[in-house]
Amino acid sequence: MKSILDNRPLLAKQVAEVAEVAGYLWQKGWAERNGGNITINITAVIDDELRQMRPISEPIPIGKVLPQLKDCFFFCKGTNKRMRDLSRQPMENGAVIHILDDCSSYVIVADKPVKPTSELSSHLSMHNYLIGKGSNYKAALHTHPIDLVAMTHHPAFLEKDVLTNLLWSMIPETRAFCPRGLGIVPYKLPGSFDLADATIRELAEYDVVMWEKHGICAVGENIMEAFDMVDTLSKSAQIYLTAKSMGFEPQGTTPEQMKELKEVFGLPK
Ligand code: 13P
Ligand code: ZN
Repeated sequence: MKSILDNRPLLAKQVAEVAEVAGYLWQKGWAERNGGNITINITAVIDDELRQMRPISEPIPIGKVLPQLKDCFFFCKGTNKRMRDLSRQPMENGAVIHILDDCSSYVIVADKPVKPTSELSSHLSMHNYLIGKGSNYKAALHTHPIDLVAMTHHPAFLEKDVLTNLLWSMIPETRAFCPRGLGIVPYKLPGSFDLADATIRELAEYDVVMWEKHGICAVGENIMEAFDMVDTLSKSAQIYLTAKSMGFEPQGTTPEQMKELKEVFGLPK
């Protein structure tokens, strides 16, 4: 079957990276059924021919105006599509969308009329925010890591910066590679604009955003980096849970050790 990836190695490489990460999410046990979603901004690898191609859908409203996304292209996981299927057949389980000039609707461009993820408002809001602040980040990931989601069921962990400090103190890598920490969005309806708006507010202060009793959102220059961020946090959560299951409260790195890391690595917080 003909695909827009044919003879487009740059685009094909980006889609292949999404497929690789989708496989990791399934292997990690973070992607039950259709759980989680990925979007990447592929505008930089769209050629004129693709830009002129006739869309395969009518314009579909996003539900909000996102001025930074005018004329941008995204590859998105399809709604109700499985990560494990996306990993094997990305173009059957994902959609390429083109944001129209009104900045509030899009058309599907290829290969199949797959409807984008139900969390599109959060994803596109994150991309809009990132472009607006001049970031070169191109990838957004939402997934359901068991350990981190479990921790959001404990009210004490939902207090500002409690989870960040706990996870930072489990292993120095988390402090270094997630240097602005983890913001928390209190439970909101999946797919809602409320959830999207709250996510952006947290992203202004933190690297990663946790959705209470639901999942996590991470952004990065590419999808591999966004995955690494969640993987690092999940490793910290695993160390905490392992210590607890051995029957003791983990000591955590000391404030002096944290301070040393901050100074040596030049960390922002
Ligand atoms: P989609 O299948 O629509 O991407 O939804 C999955 C999900 O995780 C919703 O939060
Ligand atoms: Zn979800």
